[in-house]
Amino acid sequence: MLVLGIETSCDETGVALYHSEQGLLGHELYSQVALHADYGGVVPELASRDHVRKLMPLIHGLLGDCQKELKDVSAVAYTAGPGLIGALMVGGAFATSLAFGLGIPAIGVHHMEGHLLAPMLEENPPEFPFIALLVSGGHTQLVSVTGVGQYALLGESLDDAAGEAFDKVAKMLELDYPGGPQVAKLAQKGNAQRFKFPRPMTDRPGLDFSFSGLKTFTLNLLQDEKDKHDPQYRADIAAGFQDAVVDTMVIKCRRAIQQTGLKRLIMAGGVSANLRLREKLEAMAVKEKAQVYYARPEFCTDNGAMIAYAGFQRLAAGEQNDLAIVSKPRWPLTELSEVKGIS
Ligand code: KG4
Ligand code: ZN
Repeated sequence: MLVLGIETSCDETGVALYHSEQGLLGHELYSQVALHADYGGVVPELASRDHVRKLMPLIHGLLGDCQKELKDVSAVAYTAGPGLIGALMVGGAFATSLAFGLGIPAIGVHHMEGHLLAPMLEENPPEFPFIALLVSGGHTQLVSVTGVGQYALLGESLDDAAGEAFDKVAKMLELDYPGGPQVAKLAQKGNAQRFKFPRPMTDRPGLDFSFSGLKTFTLNLLQDEKDKHDPQYRADIAAGFQDAVVDTMVIKCRRAIQQTGLKRLIMAGGVSANLRLREKLEAMAVKEKAQVYYARPEFCTDNGAMIAYAGFQRLAAGEQNDLAIVSKPRWPLTELSEVKGIS
């Protein structure tokens, strides 16, 4: 089976080809960063229009690079949600029409299931069951995973997602969008100990998160115009903030390992590209005799490969959508159906 994956939930147009026996054949990504940069964040309408423009040339290029033709494709998987409704509808309409034209099935994939399964595309994939730390621009969740579609929520953010907090702090520091990687870069030159950022919700039991207090803490440090433009002061804020987010996530992951007894932890989503998080999570895992898994950086952030792979898993189990296009801007991961036989 050859699955064409299409990701258009936000500001990246991603396409990929996944083969049931040969694995990932190739993928292409077009990032809209330059398009949205002037606005300091994603403009949904511009995102939708750009997905319309980029999808066909990207797929054409992908097929050429993989020496495949449209007639070789046996199913189309697309991101059905959660995400920006217009952007989702572009991918959904495109994928479903293509599948209809080719007389093959289409399947709508949950974006976070895509992220969650992305580490499976790497050389030493984790075996089920495991704990997943999902950290993206819209989600921060700890999930107990027993198989594809078998997800139990252990905890989640009560306010901002981790990536969202990174992006907002980046804005306060007048860094370019998308903020996460910029804050991480600035943090490399900073002293994380200078400001005593809190580790929210770690002093009480439970696996939920809250990051909005860290934003307020940052804002209070940036009241003075002179400080705000002092390079070392800024770098120290970035480092302090990053460590506060990272330490909080590491503490909660350790707790999840201890509570569940599971010794495998995967992290996925844009923030899992953060090197400090990887470093501190690895160190914690060594102490807990646990194993940490994550995707290569390009598959941590949005991409078509994870959608092709997640779609393949569900198609292989006999699932498919009819011709009605599925686009769900809000869609809890725990509503997904269990994929039988894969656990
Ligand atoms: O998974 P993703 O590409 O899109 C969503 O599904 O939301 O995640 C994007 C988020 C953004 O908030 C971005 O700032 C953050 O991931 N991000 C990072 C890093 N790379 C991306 N945050 C911290 N450190 C990074 N290196
Ligand atoms: Zn994402």
